[in-house]
Amino acid sequence: MSTKVIALANQKGGVGKTTTAVNLAACLAKRRQNILLIDLDPQANATSGLGLAKEEGGSIYSALLGEADVRTLVKPTSVKKLHMIPSELDLAGCEVAIARMDNYLHCLKNALRPLVEQDEYDFILFDCPPSIGILFMNALYATDSVVIPMQAEYLALEGLSVILSVINQVRDAGNPNLKIEGIVMTMCDLRTNLAQQVVDEVEKYFGDSIYKTLIPRTVRLSEAPSYGQTITQYAPLSKGATAYKNLAREFLKRQKPTPATGTESAQIISVPGANPDSLESAAEIGLAESSEDTTF
Ligand SMILES: Nc1ncnc2c1ncn2[C@@H]1O[C@H](COP(=O)(O)OP(=O)(O)OP(=O)(O)O)[C@@H](O)[C@H]1O
Ligand SMILES: [Mg+2]
Repeated sequence: MSTKVIALANQKGGVGKTTTAVNLAACLAKRRQNILLIDLDPQANATSGLGLAKEEGGSIYSALLGEADVRTLVKPTSVKKLHMIPSELDLAGCEVAIARMDNYLHCLKNALRPLVEQDEYDFILFDCPPSIGILFMNALYATDSVVIPMQAEYLALEGLSVILSVINQVRDAGNPNLKIEGIVMTMCDLRTNLAQQVVDEVEKYFGDSIYKTLIPRTVRLSEAPSYGQTITQYAPLSKGATAYKNLAREFLKRQKPTPATGTESAQIISVPGANPDSLESAAEIGLAESSEDTTF
């Protein structure tokens, strides 16, 4: 299989992008996948969450400007088969520098080319920043598909419609094959009616694009990053660890071609408008076949 690039993205802050990026990456690596996680957020939460130091000049900044070969920026992590390009606060300044370049939306895609051509990794994952800026847009132009982490909370669908319409715009403007890899429901407290209602509502619109694995809200998941550890290192038997292991399994299962079409199961979802009220039903927007039983 050739390298597939996947962005963990949602313009909404604090929805579990980084937690999902770090722990999905680690659980995929445990399943013998060669993974490169690129921290594209100047907050560098994925970098510290994996226990890596924020060192000056260590981020992808120089590669985006064409001043360094991206391969020289890759660092090993404490998880076997998981490598990382860390972030640092300087990455924030990068938006201004890139904006002056020709083809400024394609800097990341161009920078990654040697890595993708080298075909050493099964997956390159981006942990995206929570705002629709130049780095975020570069991620969407450089990626094959998007995993959207989404918090099971009131008005969640409204935020989702924003990212979906941005994805549609990028598809129209130069990355026509950009797909939705899947939607991950995070911080689920299924003892409350609200969380269950949100999951039901999102399922109604997006059907099988939603991973059947729901990520529970657990203290362990929020504690692990302060020790620079993944959840499988910090609390391997916890509910959070089990959930992310299950998510990795479901994610990999979705990579297999579906028998009906022979294509991978990540789908292009068309969104008629940014207003969630105007979203069509799952049947009308054509979603993938179901991939796995609930695993959690
Ligand atoms: N399943 C969970 N249970 C409990 N806490 C969680 C869970 N997932 C994430 N958190 C916590 O919620 C906060 C936000 O999570 P995270 O940093 O992953 O979100 P994010 O979308 O990357 O945020 P940002 O938009 O700032 O980059 C963090 O403190 C994290 O530890
Ligand atoms: Mg984050």
